[in-house]
Amino acid sequence: MSDSNSVTLSAGETSVSLPVIRPTVGNDCIDIARLPKETGCFTYDNGFTATASCRSAITYIDGDEGVLLYRGYPIDQLAEKSSFLEVAYLLMHGELPSAGEFEQFSGQITRHSMLNEKFKNFVEGFRYDAHPMAMLVGMLGSMASFYHNDLDYDDPEQRRLAAIRLLAKVPTVAALCHRYSIGWPACHPRNNLEYTSRFLHMMFEVPSEPLQLSPVAAKALDLLFILHADHEQNASTSTVRLVGSTGANPYACIAAGVAALWGPAHGGANEAVLKMLGEIGRPENVQSAIDRAKDKESGFRLMGFGHRVYKNFDPRATIIREMTHKVLDELGIDDPLLDVAMRLEEAALKDDYFVQRKLYPNVDFYSGIIYKALNIPTEMFTVMFAIARTAGWVSHWLEQQNDPETKIGRPRQIYTGAASRDYVAIDRR
Ligand code: ACO
Repeated sequence: MSDSNSVTLSAGETSVSLPVIRPTVGNDCIDIARLPKETGCFTYDNGFTATASCRSAITYIDGDEGVLLYRGYPIDQLAEKSSFLEVAYLLMHGELPSAGEFEQFSGQITRHSMLNEKFKNFVEGFRYDAHPMAMLVGMLGSMASFYHNDLDYDDPEQRRLAAIRLLAKVPTVAALCHRYSIGWPACHPRNNLEYTSRFLHMMFEVPSEPLQLSPVAAKALDLLFILHADHEQNASTSTVRLVGSTGANPYACIAAGVAALWGPAHGGANEAVLKMLGEIGRPENVQSAIDRAKDKESGFRLMGFGHRVYKNFDPRATIIREMTHKVLDELGIDDPLLDVAMRLEEAALKDDYFVQRKLYPNVDFYSGIIYKALNIPTEMFTVMFAIARTAGWVSHWLEQQNDPETKIGRPRQIYTGAASRDYVAIDRR
């Protein structure tokens, strides 16, 4: 039974009227905070598929309609007309910047892109073959030790400075990790380059000759960064917020977000897609891969297919799909893996198993192919995702720190262990 502002829920003898919270757009939410006190019951929602964890004004997704808005702006408009840094400003501040605001923001990001020289000591502690995501988690965690003491978290300007530092330094750390793994010397950020070009320069410049930066590569990377910049309360962003709810410093929060992103069910999927395409190898092997993915006993899933929220085409995948062909054409790349990818996409979209479960290619299905075309090594793919998602993570952290409703995140559980029992001495067990 419900009226427009409340829902009545019965648990045993007790009925409780719970308020309904209405978002700007999207599903109404029943506020269950009073439920345990009034009924003695908790709620169970495995994987948080039906539970909102916070109020947020940053990103809106309608998974059934395939809609993604950053601060109200449709992703396709931002992808076509904006830049990653402008999108980062939008996510952090809520509005698009004026020309003056953008110049100031971009100048701050540029000035904070250099790393303290002592970071080199951290990198050099890693084994030569360390995974760059492991290095990124460690390096960002260590950043807390450089900036923790002079941060006053009660001061909004200081919080903003931490967010700027993170956004500015993550690409520098990422490139440093890559260079270490291939034995190249560190490359300092160039202030005369824009965000994505500066990153590509730090990745690929060698001391012996100047790098010819490709504008097509920089544009493609910028677009990928826009598409990955935020995605509301996904696993890594929720991790950032959970850690942030304890009052931990922002570098620790973002390091935790990077760790959550690493898993193959989340950001690690782009790396897994490329590995899977390599294993399939040839278009004629596609059908057997599809058959294996449908067989639950095999434990194999098609990487880059399906999404927790999108039960329609991922709007980012639509944009990136077009971009993939354009980039490969413009860079003159004829990649046999693309043929495998296109055959796989076509076959899965026609197959009843995938159609019935609404398993469409997600953004990571295509992003790996573009990264490969840009010469980004496979193990760096999830790091690329982390660079872009830092814009979202810091925006959510800032929003959370400003929110007077924020309290420490502390879920309940359904206890399934032994009930209370007496200790038995070791000689009687
Ligand atoms: N291949 C084959 N079957 C799949 C796939 C897949 N990629 N994804 C889901 N299914 C099947 C499941 O076996 C299940 O089948 P059933 O109903 O017969 O039991 C059904 O589809 C629903 O799957 P769930 O796991 O319940 O869906 P959920 O929403 O929990 O998972 C997820 C979403 C994790 C993304 C899943 O689709 C998956 O593992 N995909 C591959 C990994 C991937 O691409 N991850 C990237 C996500 S996007 C991102 O993080 C940017």
